Amino acid sequence: MSAKSEFSRRAEPEFNQIVEKGLNRRQFLKASSAAGTVAFFGASPLSSAIAASKDNKDLIGFEAIPASTEDKVTVPKGYQADVLISWGDPLFKGAPVFSQKADSKAQALQFGDNNDGMTFFQISDDRGVLSINNEYTNHEYLFAHQGKDMSADDVLKSQNAHGISVVELKKINGLWEVNKEGRLNRRITANTEMELTGPAAGDALLKTAADPKGTKVLGTFNNCANGETPWGTYLTCEENFNGLFGSTETPALDSNYARYGLNTKGAGYDWFKHDERFDLAKNPNEPHRHGWVVEIDPMNPNSTPKKRTALGRFKHENAALTINNDGRVVVYLGDDERGEHLYRFVSKNKYNPSNPTANRDILDEGTLYVAKFNAKDGELEGKGEWIELTFGKNGLTKENGFNSQAEVLIFARKAATQVGATTMDRPEWVAVNPKNQSVFCTLTNNKYRGVKANQPVDAVNPREKNPYGHIVRWMPSGQDHTSNNFDWDLYLIAGNPTVHEGLMAGSDNINADNMFNSPDGIGFDNAGRLWIQTDGKYSNQGDFAGMGNNQMLCGDPDSGEVRRFLTGPIACEITGLTFSPDQKTMFVGVQHPGEDLAPSHFPDGGDAIPRSSVIRITRTDGGIIGAA
Ligand code: FEO
Ligand code: CA
Ligand code: CA
Ligand code: CA
Repeated sequence: MSAKSEFSRRAEPEFNQIVEKGLNRRQFLKASSAAGTVAFFGASPLSSAIAASKDNKDLIGFEAIPASTEDKVTVPKGYQADVLISWGDPLFKGAPVFSQKADSKAQALQFGDNNDGMTFFQISDDRGVLSINNEYTNHEYLFAHQGKDMSADDVLKSQNAHGISVVELKKINGLWEVNKEGRLNRRITANTEMELTGPAAGDALLKTAADPKGTKVLGTFNNCANGETPWGTYLTCEENFNGLFGSTETPALDSNYARYGLNTKGAGYDWFKHDERFDLAKNPNEPHRHGWVVEIDPMNPNSTPKKRTALGRFKHENAALTINNDGRVVVYLGDDERGEHLYRFVSKNKYNPSNPTANRDILDEGTLYVAKFNAKDGELEGKGEWIELTFGKNGLTKENGFNSQAEVLIFARKAATQVGATTMDRPEWVAVNPKNQSVFCTLTNNKYRGVKANQPVDAVNPREKNPYGHIVRWMPSGQDHTSNNFDWDLYLIAGNPTVHEGLMAGSDNINADNMFNSPDGIGFDNAGRLWIQTDGKYSNQGDFAGMGNNQMLCGDPDSGEVRRFLTGPIACEITGLTFSPDQKTMFVGVQHPGEDLAPSHFPDGGDAIPRSSVIRITRTDGGIIGAA
C-alpha cells in the first residue's frame, strides 16, 4: 500500500508537468523533430506522410453533434441512421419474428444478441455479406423471468443468442438491406462444431471425454471484436468466455484457472447447471478450448470454423491484421483485462495475393510476441519492444512451469508475465493506420492502476485509477511490422476538462464539446480517419457530467482533432464498425441499450423491450462517410 502511494506521490507532479507540456499536439510534434530523435514523426517517410495529410484540412468534413441523453441514435446534419437488423429478427425465410417468448429453436434462426465487431464483405454491386459477432446476452431481456429460473431450453436459447450471425445483404434502391433468402445466411452458436488448429491443437490440455483427440470443439461465445483477412475470411475473437463456466461441485482449480477468471460461481448464466460441458468439475479442460481467435469463411455456410491457437489464448478483443511490406501477416491483439497485455503475431509464411486458398492456414504457423513499453525519462512517450513467446526462450522453460509451446500458448498470460511484459489499462481494439503504418490501441480504463502492486503508474499508463481511458500509438521501426522495436506516444487522453484540471482533464485535443470516456472500438477508413467508439459511464454526472450517452467520434490522427459523429440510446455501448468498399455506407453497432433494466425502448419505442441493433449510416447526398 505504502509503496504504491509513494510511487504516485513521486510520479504524479512529474506526469502533470508533462501533460502541460506534452499534450499540446503542435508543441509535441515540433519538440520531437527539433530534438532530432528517431521519433515517431521525425523520420522522413513519415514526416512527408504527415505533412501531406496535415495539408488536408478537410479530412473531417461533418458538423460535430452535441452529447445526448436521449433514447435514440443521433448523427450529423446530412446523414441518416437506420436500423438494419436487431436481436431476434428472422435470419432465414420462414423463421419466426421477434418475440421475447421465443424458444431455443426460434433463437437459432434469428439474429443473435448484443452485436459487437463486424465486417462487411462485398460480393458484387448489389450483393454482400455482413459477418457480425453476437458477444453475449442479457438474461434480463432474453427471458420474461429475467434469467431467474433457467430451464434446459433456456440455457440452449442463451447459447443460441451467442456466437456469430452471417447476414446476406442486397442493395435495394441504393441502400443495403437484409436478404432473408440469402444462401449465405448462417448462425454460428455456442454449439457449432469447430476445429482447433495450430501448435496447441491435440495437446493433452485440450482433450476432453467428448473429444479425446483435442481437435474438435463445440462453439464460440463472447465474441467481442473482430478482424478480416485479405483472403476473404472473418476473424472473431473470444473474450470473456470464463463467465459461462462454473460448477455445482468444489473442484480444486490451480492458478491457471484463476488467471483467466475461471471459478465455480460463473457470471450468472447458469449454463453449467444444465450443460455438463460448462461444469469445471466434470470437464476441467473445456475452458482451455475457449479464449482463441476463430477464423470463419463467410462465403461458405458449410465451412468449419477454425480456432487458431498460434495467436494465443487470452481474453481477445480484436485482431488487427495487416500485410507487412515483406508479405508476412502481422496481427495485433489486445487482452482486455485490467493489468493484462498487448500481443503481436507474425506469420512464418508470406501472404500469396495471387492464390487466396494458399493462405487458408497461414495463421497456424508463426511467432507470438508481447509488448514491453519503455519510457523516456519522465515523458509520455518512449521506445518499446516485442518479446518473443517461444518455448525454450526468454525463461519460458520447464523450470518456470512451461513444458511445451502448446502450454505457452494456452497459458499466454502466464508466459507474458514470465517475460516481463508491461501491464496495461485494458487493451481493447487495435487499428493500423493505412496511411503510414502507425498502430493505435485503446486502453479503456483501469481502476487498479496505481492500486495493485503489479500495475504501477507508468508513462504508458500514466493515471492512477484511470477512469476515462486513453489511446496509445506506436510506429514500428522502419515502418516494418515485424521489427521488434517501436516508438510510441499517447494520441489522446480522455478526460473531463469541465470538472478537472491536469491529467484528469485529458489531453489538449479534448474539450467540452468532444469529451467522452472509455474509448473501446476503433478503426480507420480508407482516407485515414480514425473512428472511436465508447463503452463508458453514461451517468452524465460528476466526473462524467456533460458526456451523455455512449457515442462515436472521428479523429484526425495527425492534427489530433476529434469530433463527435454519433450518439447512442440510453445505457447502450457503441461497438462494431465496418464500411462498404465505396465508403458510402457505414455499419455501426448499438449494444445492450437499456442494460441493467435502464429505461430504454430502443429501437422499437413505446413500451417495447430494448434490442441491440446494427445501424446503417448513409449520407443524404450519397457522399463518403466522414468526408467534406
Ligand atoms: Fe467485449 Fe473488451 O469488450
Ligand atoms: Ca469492446
Ligand atoms: Ca469495453
Ligand atoms: Ca460490450
